Amino acid sequence: MITIATKVKEVREQVKAWKKAGLTVGFVPTMGYLHEGHQSLIKRAVEENDKVVVSIFVNPMQFGPTEDLDSYPRDLEKDSALCEATGANLIFHPEPEEMYTDGFCSYVDMSVLTEELCGLSRPVHFRGVCTVVSKLFHIVTPDRAYFGQKDAQQLAIIKRMVLDLNMDIEIVGCPIVREADGLAKSSRNTYLSPEERKAALILSQTIQLAEQLLQSGEKDAATIISQMTKKIESEPLARIDYIKIVDAMTMQQIPTIDRPILCAMAVYIGKTRLIDNTMFE
Ligand code: PAF
Repeated sequence: MITIATKVKEVREQVKAWKKAGLTVGFVPTMGYLHEGHQSLIKRAVEENDKVVVSIFVNPMQFGPTEDLDSYPRDLEKDSALCEATGANLIFHPEPEEMYTDGFCSYVDMSVLTEELCGLSRPVHFRGVCTVVSKLFHIVTPDRAYFGQKDAQQLAIIKRMVLDLNMDIEIVGCPIVREADGLAKSSRNTYLSPEERKAALILSQTIQLAEQLLQSGEKDAATIISQMTKKIESEPLARIDYIKIVDAMTMQQIPTIDRPILCAMAVYIGKTRLIDNTMFE
């Protein structure tokens, strides 16, 4: 049975022992309710490291007051089985009190990259992500950490944080994993009713449209965004939060496709906010 550590001290002791034995450590931070997207990160970590730690922690600090912290899906038993079957060695599953002790008041914050895209509609989100990920990095002290490209802004932010704060960790970005019909895998897909699940296909179809336009040589960001907007608006259950084209490194909007870009969107299907994106070099 895979070990589930609930205390910081247990993780530290185990990782220290591995390092003393000269072993490398890969790390996959998650909020649990694991799916094939997370599994692809764990698989990659297992391939590239001697030992792999997966954290499962629904981080209260990255949820806004009206967001889905309480209803966020949880299933530790299923998650442990998936981690074990995929070859992970240790799960870190702390209680919030273990991560945020009484009187907690230190944060990791970032400007610029966090001010666009999801940062606009989720103002406290990235401060919560940066804070918890740096805490987890200090606890696990991995050689490599694995993040999905589905959360492209989060991945860019973590890479920037590691660079800015001289953290000696290699950040590995892994491709988006999709359902057979194209919908990007997400723990939040479980919120969708059957009718909404069908409607949610509009996201990946719109990303495909953007990819076609980019590949055919369209260089005007406004033209691409306007066609994407029309496509999303053709789905009655969909409501756009944002559709944007930004510089892939800085997350700042650009008018012309003249560098590596991220084309990203967040769309509500009913009450569920879903994201999807594509990168173009
Ligand atoms: O991507 C996630 O699941 C979370 O934002 C992360 C990186 C585990 C931090 O809580």
